[in-house]
Amino acid sequence: MTGPPAPPGNRWLPVISLTLLAAAAAALITATQERTQQRIADNEAAEMMKGLAAVLPDGDYDNQPYRDRIMVVDAELLGSNDPQPVYRVRKSGRPVAAVIAVTARNGYVGPIRLLVGISASGTVTGVRVVTHRETPGLGDRIEAKKSNWLSIFAGHSATRPDYDQWLVKRDGGDFDQMTGATVTSRSVVSAVRDAVRYFQEHRDTIFE
Ligand SMILES: Cc1cc2nc3c(=O)[nH]c(=O)nc-3n(C[C@H](O)[C@H](O)[C@H](O)COP(=O)(O)O)c2cc1C
Repeated sequence: MTGPPAPPGNRWLPVISLTLLAAAAAALITATQERTQQRIADNEAAEMMKGLAAVLPDGDYDNQPYRDRIMVVDAELLGSNDPQPVYRVRKSGRPVAAVIAVTARNGYVGPIRLLVGISASGTVTGVRVVTHRETPGLGDRIEAKKSNWLSIFAGHSATRPDYDQWLVKRDGGDFDQMTGATVTSRSVVSAVRDAVRYFQEHRDTIFE
């Protein structure tokens, strides 16, 4: 025996409720995803800012360098066939410095990615390692938290020392090598030298 047919309004009620529920769930998922993506982007920006701030003098700029970025390619001087970021640093719109991402290709274990801060006048303001695979206890002393070896570059420029003195002391140049890690030291010295040279050759177009 079947009962009387449900009034038309009631028959659609479950369908409508389910549709509304599914729409609400989808909206909630989308909102959560957007919040998560925003948080990831904020964290990445904060990390990037920390990295950039580490190679720049304190408080000397008022822009957000990680947003003022250009991509450039120079396999010879920047150590990669891929476009590399150059972050422009400004105060009241005027160039203060640039931070160049370079790869030292001939590390002992593998490529070493670096950020090199260079003032508008061409002087190194700081160098930090972004990624590397050098040996713990030997080449990994390029990390700022393990030694201050990377501080040897601050204040140097394309002409200080002369180009042919941008070598480790072991090779007759001006820069101390890390003891027991000459290969790593050598590769970083030449990568910083090339970043400085890149800046010298492209300063005007970098800040255009
Ligand atoms: C297992 C192992 C790991 C090494 N890792 C590094 C390294 O990360 N960076 C480096 O420059 N040399 C490394 N070396 C040392 C090099 O072989 C080389 O001796 C050194 O770079 C030369 O520097 P030195 O003349 O100051 O000893 C490693 C050697 C061994 C046996």
